[in-house]
Amino acid sequence: MQPTVVPKPQRIGVPREIFPGEKRVATVPDVVEKLIKLGFTVAVESGAGEAANFDDDAYRTAGAEIIDSAAALWATSDIVLKVRPPSDEEVVLMREGGLLIDFIWPAQNPELMRQLAAKSATVLAIDCLPRTLSRAQKMDALTSTAGVSGYRAVIEAANAFGRYFNGQITAAGKVPPAKVFIAGAGVAGLAAIGTAANLGAIVRANDTRAEVADQVKSLGGEFVTVDYDEDGAGGGGYAKVMSEGFRAAQREMYAQQAKDVDIIITTALIPGKPAPTLITDKMVQSMKSGSVIVDMAAEQGGNCELTVPGESVVRHGVTIIGYTDLPSRLAKQSSTLYATNLLRLAEDLCKAKDGVAVIDMEDDAIRGLTVIKNGSITWPAPPLKVAPAAAPRSAALPAVEKKSGHAHGSGAPLTAKALTVIFAIAVALFWGVGTYAPAAFLGHFTVFVLACFIGYMVVWNVAPALHTPLMSVTNAISSIIAIGSLVQIAPPAAGSNGRLDGLIFRLAFAALVLTAVNMFGGFAVTRRMLSMFRK
Ligand code: NAI
Repeated sequence: MQPTVVPKPQRIGVPREIFPGEKRVATVPDVVEKLIKLGFTVAVESGAGEAANFDDDAYRTAGAEIIDSAAALWATSDIVLKVRPPSDEEVVLMREGGLLIDFIWPAQNPELMRQLAAKSATVLAIDCLPRTLSRAQKMDALTSTAGVSGYRAVIEAANAFGRYFNGQITAAGKVPPAKVFIAGAGVAGLAAIGTAANLGAIVRANDTRAEVADQVKSLGGEFVTVDYDEDGAGGGGYAKVMSEGFRAAQREMYAQQAKDVDIIITTALIPGKPAPTLITDKMVQSMKSGSVIVDMAAEQGGNCELTVPGESVVRHGVTIIGYTDLPSRLAKQSSTLYATNLLRLAEDLCKAKDGVAVIDMEDDAIRGLTVIKNGSITWPAPPLKVAPAAAPRSAALPAVEKKSGHAHGSGAPLTAKALTVIFAIAVALFWGVGTYAPAAFLGHFTVFVLACFIGYMVVWNVAPALHTPLMSVTNAISSIIAIGSLVQIAPPAAGSNGRLDGLIFRLAFAALVLTAVNMFGGFAVTRRMLSMFRK
């Protein structure tokens, strides 16, 4: 009998980040415990988490081994988790055939890619995750990092701004609220809008992708449009380069905003292109003295002409902040979110929980992330086989109807023969009822059938985007009962049977009360649900 080969658990190593000023760390003690539960062993370089407020003892308590030197850590780790792309020295330390999970930016770092391939490494670039894949959102470190940066940009602006954000009426006088303009409402921009609005500022925002207007409003901002008909959606949720006509119209609108607002936060980026210039020298000159600009696109060339990447400078009385380390300025938060993103990835790589990472190139998320496999460059990944874009309402309906077993429209059309049979049965039933039932019943029965038909046609055709098909049906039934009981509750006609009328009145009244409970209860529940999403 062949002995069963039990794979040896792999060792995950987390080195200290050596990029100047980088305070983040790729894993945190809470996550170490979970990685160990997946079957891995974990080693952390001494002092790796210090700048993010995680000391060696916390990692040790969580079950990690603390290693004193970077060289020993890299040499003994099967898998290395990092934040910044490795430096030349780190690549030298890396083990032949090792697995590296890290921000890599392959388009910007071809030489690094070549060096890693020469090490026969397998490299998962966390920045190459297919972000529109909903299953991959839990691993989306770009989104968690951008969220932290957007928040921190507002905090930096507040720090440099000499006034309150919220308006106040004090004994010493009235303070107007600060006006904040956000250029670019992607992940970072939306985080900035939410933070500034929560601090009480008046927030306006603009983006070339019209689809974000509702998101801006839902976070308490006002979406300001450019007076030019062109949409900036460039595919995959990203923006495209706009026409010269649009840019001229946009400059005009931005010039107006610059004169009016106190703070501008710019986040506008186009993948693979230098950041678009949105704030000119002239616009900065037109701003009030003491105003602040935070240019979050500083590393990609900046959205403001006067930005100095990595620095805070004052030009024309305006503070222009071009820090390129915003996530690192909130190191504990960024590290925790990043470590959780990597944990979710580790769970996907190690479904058997046996401490062995398996790179499944059939998995769209893993395929996108894998930029080098066993020394062969596999970047860029082929385009995703995406599901058709959000189906328009008319196209979505048949699927819903089919599922709920109601065959009409393009679902499963009834044959002429089936229709004839149904019609014949309906006529026979109606004739039977008409012959034996009391005359008054026939009128009520006709109203009931028509009410069912109209209720069905009106409510069943509503797309269940805001309510479920079950709710549609209960609403239809409630409406039928309400109308029916209102008709019955009318005062009895002269000469009618008093006892029977009394019974009908009581039944109709009870039906009305019950259906009112259902209807008004529904309104109350909806109100409570909506209030959960309000501030
Ligand atoms: P980004 O960092 O590349 O760009 C930031 C924003 O700048 C974008 O909203 C872009 O439209 C805007 N912009 C570009 N040029 C501009 C200009 N000239 N003027 C004004 N605004 C301009 O984008 P980010 O934040 O990484 O994500 C962009 C989008 O990607 C998201 O809004 C979302 O639609 C999509 N996404 C989807 C995810 C998912 O489906 N799971 C996850 C994350 C992002």
